[in-house]
Amino acid sequence: MHLPDSPQRQPFYLDCDTGIDDAMAIAYLLASDRVDLLGIGTVSGNISAEMGARNTLALLELAGRSDIPVAIGEHDFLATPFAGGAIHVHGENGIGGVVLAEPARTPASESAPEMIVRLARQHPGELHILAIGPLTNLAKALLLHPGLATLVKEVTIMGGAALVPGNITAVAEANIHNDPDAAAAVFAASWFITMVPLDATMQSLIEAVDRDRLVASPRPVAQAIGAMLDTYFDFYVQFFGRRTSVLHDPLAAAVAVGDLGLGTSPVVQVQVDTSHGPGRGQTICDLRWRFLGHPEQAGAHIRVVLAVETDFTPLMVDAILSL
Ligand code: BDR
Ligand code: CA
Repeated sequence: MHLPDSPQRQPFYLDCDTGIDDAMAIAYLLASDRVDLLGIGTVSGNISAEMGARNTLALLELAGRSDIPVAIGEHDFLATPFAGGAIHVHGENGIGGVVLAEPARTPASESAPEMIVRLARQHPGELHILAIGPLTNLAKALLLHPGLATLVKEVTIMGGAALVPGNITAVAEANIHNDPDAAAAVFAASWFITMVPLDATMQSLIEAVDRDRLVASPRPVAQAIGAMLDTYFDFYVQFFGRRTSVLHDPLAAAVAVGDLGLGTSPVVQVQVDTSHGPGRGQTICDLRWRFLGHPEQAGAHIRVVLAVETDFTPLMVDAILSL
């Protein structure tokens, strides 16, 4: 498929661990006329980087978007091996057991970190990186090209927890906890980062009635994502007491595209706990000045989205139904 030229399309690279909510984020980006998705890289997280690439290729084919290259990224984290992922959340195949046709395409010959560097060089000052898995590929890309941060327009990350509990330990969110060393390196680089943490994503829910609309659609992407949600609902019912799920990755995608009104979103210093104690993977956000409305912090370059104001779920469901 050839996209109509649109001056408002922004060049994007997506880094993901596809993943049920990653699949929703991909669908959301494909539906947007503000996004030119130049490439997707996968990283181990919910499932292995290799399986994530397979899921991504299959989903792109279902959407008629086999023009977007998919690169396999890092299998292991910077300091620890990949340990099998989150099949209790996302199912054995990462996409809730939904069986998509074996993709005709194979992954790109370059690695995901190589793809990041290539795209940043080809689009200096323009590329938006959206990372919705562990940050290992981004950290590796920074090692490949130390000037990378100055070439990239901005980075949006789904990850971390500022003022709320973690979801994998008492204080840590899964993407950051999988590879805290990579997150620390990415947060320390000089690019502007928007962090979309659990504070925002846990507020955004998709309900059974939305799932029913997706499943009833004649369109294959909507049907597939609706079916994936059954597995996500099986997991989240223990937290919410009803069949619903949160929208971590698609919310970050919508923030990156600029589709949402943001609530309190200060630009602050963020440190990642890389210790091996109970704080491992915590994102320590300096929110001490919140009573003064968060005055500028010297050198701070991480915007922490504590809340969004737009009702996101209807936007997302309509986006998926449009594919
Ligand atoms: C994040 O972890 C993964 O399981 C999800 O895909 C999301 O990116 C939420 O903590
Ligand atoms: Ca993810």
